[in-house]
Formats: sequence, C-alpha cells, structure tokens
Amino acid sequence: MPESSQPRHVAIIMDGNGRWAKKRALPRAMGHKAGGDAVKRTVEAAKTLGLECLTLYAFSSENWKREEGEISDLMNLMRRFIERELDAFVANGLRLKIIGDYKAFAPDIVEKLEDALERTKDGSRTLAVALNYGAQQEIARAARLAAAEGEVSCEGIERHLYTADLPPLDLLIRTSGEVRLSNFLLWQSAYAEMLFVDVLWPDFGEEHLRAACEEFARRERRYGGR
Ligand code: FPP
Repeated sequence: MPESSQPRHVAIIMDGNGRWAKKRALPRAMGHKAGGDAVKRTVEAAKTLGLECLTLYAFSSENWKREEGEISDLMNLMRRFIERELDAFVANGLRLKIIGDYKAFAPDIVEKLEDALERTKDGSRTLAVALNYGAQQEIARAARLAAAEGEVSCEGIERHLYTADLPPLDLLIRTSGEVRLSNFLLWQSAYAEMLFVDVLWPDFGEEHLRAACEEFARRERRYGGR
C-alpha cells in the first residue's frame, strides 16, 4: 500500500457483543469477554499495520442506562484487561490515552487507568480508549473552554477536544452492520472515511482491519488528485 494512502488514525465503534452471545445462547457477559479478546487482537493488528493511532469506543456516556449487572461486567472486564495487558502495552511502545470523563468510574479503576497513563506516556503509537465518552458532551466542553479564552472558533474548539494531540481521524469503522455514529467523534468525523462492516465485534481481527485499511486506500486513490 503506498505510504500516502495508509490511514494514520483509525477509530472503531465496537458493536455486536450482545448479538454474538445471543447467537450462541451465551450470557451477554460472554459476548463482552469475547469482545475484550477482539480488542487485544485489534491492538496487535494496528501495530502490524503501522497505524499511528487506534481509537476504540469502549463505554459511552449512554451506556450507564444498561442494567446494573451488565455495567458491572464491563467494569470488571476493564479492570482485568488493564491488569493483563499493561506490561505488553509498555513493551510494545503503546501510549494509552483516554478520551471522555473517566473520573466518573469507580476509584480503583480511575487509579488503574491513571497508573496505565503514567506508565505508557512515552509510547510512540497511541491507543485512545473512549470511556464515559459522548461527542456532544466533548464539543460542549471544548466550546466552554474556548469561550473562557474568548475564542469560539473552529480552531479554538478543536484545541480543547480530547483528541487535540492526535493525528486527524482518517477512517471510522462500525461493526455489526448498524449504520449510526451513536455520539462518537462527531467533530472529528467531518472529513473521515466511514466503513460499516457486517462483522460482530467479537469476530473482528487483523484480516478485517487490514481489509478496512485497503478499502481506505482505494477510496483515497479514487478521490486523489482533485
Ligand atoms: C457493544 O456491544 C459493545 C460495548 C457495549 C462496548 C465495548 C466493550 C468491549 C469490546 C469489551 C471490552 C473492552 C475493553 C476496553 C476491555 P453491544 O452490547 O452493544 O452489542 P449488541 O448491540 O449486539 O447488544
């Protein structure tokens, strides 16, 4: 793939854990667990494919509306994921970044996340995880901060988005066949390519990410030169 048409920043709405579990007559928690395995595979694939930044929608500000038991399953999954994967992140030069109001999580999770942020801060590639994230909330927050500086312009707002230090979003993928943005990276998607794939998140892996990057390259070639 030519250097210029390789996406630098890919974001994924990881959807379909519940349906994956239902198809197998398993509890939803098993779908989320398999979703965690897909996260691990995809983070590794992002390295293989040379992405500078991968952003994953792990917990939206609307996810608090789910049943208490499911929220607690997701929180436990997050605890275990950080415990198991942090050393590999550091070893692989991955910088963790969190977008969203993660301080609303339980104190032990906030502590684990902040420890992970500190330990990975020198990484050269970025894994951005959206936690308690909503794009409208992000834009409102950035506008408030920009207003306090007296500059409510696009540039002024952009400077205060959580993603201000990340490369521009090139490609946004949603799994599971749903065709919605669900309050994810609304500002950042202004010029991004979008890809809605008919794969449930727990089945997602390197071949799908590779195919998505190739599709991005084809679209780039089609529109290139204009
Ligand atoms: C959508 O499935 C997925 C989520 C609710 C969030 C994503 C969470 C994970 C992939 C778990 C692991 C994450 C980390 C960072 C360890 P859904 O329940 O909405 O699926 P459905 O629409 O089929 O019910």
